[in-house]
Amino acid sequence: MTSLSDEAVEQLLAVARTHGERAHVPYSNFRVGAAVLTADGATVGGCNVENASYGLSNCGERTALFAAVAAGHTDLVALAVSCLDGDSSRPATLMPCGACRQVMVELLRADALVIIDGVGRFGLDELLPNAFRL
Ligand code: THU
Repeated sequence: MTSLSDEAVEQLLAVARTHGERAHVPYSNFRVGAAVLTADGATVGGCNVENASYGLSNCGERTALFAAVAAGHTDLVALAVSCLDGDSSRPATLMPCGACRQVMVELLRADALVIIDGVGRFGLDELLPNAFRL
């Protein structure tokens, strides 16, 4: 698995939290920020963006991952996720949803590190064993 210093992890989490502050969440009031780290050291952030037509909402993780792809990054080595309004006594409220895990498997490097704020560090196989692939 990609190894990052504690300082690098904290920096990536800080970017994720900053983006979480920008979340557009009038329906859930549940803010999520994420930050992708690329192999060349760039960071790309994202937040969840909701819509009155609820199904059109996008999670913070996917916003960050799609923004990284759109910016031309092709080697994504780590992702930090911060659920600002999660409940630390219930870690499930801090974890990425299944849809985002599937997108992580597609877009992150196979040995990528996923850092979940308040929970810990995970590999993709831990987050989504036996992922669907074409
Ligand atoms: N949400 C995320 O942004 N990421 C996840 O992994 C889980 C859920 C968002 C979707 C919605 O805007 C809000 O959190 C409540 O579900």
